Amino acid sequence: MHLSLTAPDDWHLHLRDGARMRSVVAHSATLFRRALIMPNLVPPVETVAQAHAYRERILAAAGGSGFEPLMTLYLTPRTTPAEVRRAAADPHVLAIKLYPAGATTNSDAGVRGLEGSFEVLETMAELGLPLCIHGEVTDPNVDVFDREARFVSDVLAPLVERFASLPIVLEHITTAEAASFVRAARAGVAATITAHHLLYNRNALFRGGLRPDYYCLPVLKRESHRRALVTAATSGDPRFFLGTDSAPHPRSGKHAACGCAGIYTAHAALPLYAQVFESAGALHRLEPFASHFGADFYRVPRNTARLELRRESWQVPGEYELGDEVLTPLCAGETLGWKVVGLGQ
Ligand code: NCD
Ligand code: ZN
Repeated sequence: MHLSLTAPDDWHLHLRDGARMRSVVAHSATLFRRALIMPNLVPPVETVAQAHAYRERILAAAGGSGFEPLMTLYLTPRTTPAEVRRAAADPHVLAIKLYPAGATTNSDAGVRGLEGSFEVLETMAELGLPLCIHGEVTDPNVDVFDREARFVSDVLAPLVERFASLPIVLEHITTAEAASFVRAARAGVAATITAHHLLYNRNALFRGGLRPDYYCLPVLKRESHRRALVTAATSGDPRFFLGTDSAPHPRSGKHAACGCAGIYTAHAALPLYAQVFESAGALHRLEPFASHFGADFYRVPRNTARLELRRESWQVPGEYELGDEVLTPLCAGETLGWKVVGLGQ
């Protein structure tokens, strides 16, 4: 069996920088024509000039693959309306990313509350520049499994209302609450969904022991939420589209007393999504989810190249290089049923 799709885009990707970035970029370039690159480097990508320099480094590492990095800026307390105007006028910067400070990996540069950023958000709304959101509250008293649902009710709902023309993407949604909110929200509100949140529930974190390779933020949730995400992704609703949140970490950082958050899926993203859509009897909805709806939301042309997949078993390697360390990819050592034949130009 064979599957031919418009070449997909990854609307949420962590590439890191330097030698680590050079190790992983080929995985994304093999599957995706474009990717929205997250700005959570240390220090963060805060300005258009920094985004341009980072983009050039990614392009140099991707060689002549044709892979196009689409850039984001990190919303910090220092972000100015003037920088927003530069970003909105720039062809390479597509969005600004909100990380509530302390919510996840490299989020320390983020904002503590939104009040200090109202002018910036107002300018984004005026110019139609999308805000991508890591949607979790950071109050340590809120149960970690409830942080996304609390963010949706306490922060996102008022934000969507207050800035009525601001395009918003709730990133890597993990709950039935987030899916229902996005489905019912005003125009201009969408969500990305990862392969790992479609494939696993929180039992994966504790199967036979503690499994750091399944730890990411927002953390995996219970089965009823996973099912709600599969329903959203496979429903054909254009508000839900593909974003892997592939997040490379060295094995030494994940297999540790305090293991860091992030799951690496770039090596197998399309085979993993295809598996989910096939199990749901919705393979015909994979193409719009992976290749149409995100481009439409961000108002960029759909790709003309095509990606071919084949029903063929292959074994995921136990590790990949990450600079001078290694990472453990999702499904390391396991056999997957869909294989990428190739991405045409
Ligand atoms: C991401 C990372 O490692 O940069 N980690 C994660 O668990 N998803 C950050 C993020 O997107 O939250
Ligand atoms: Zn992410």
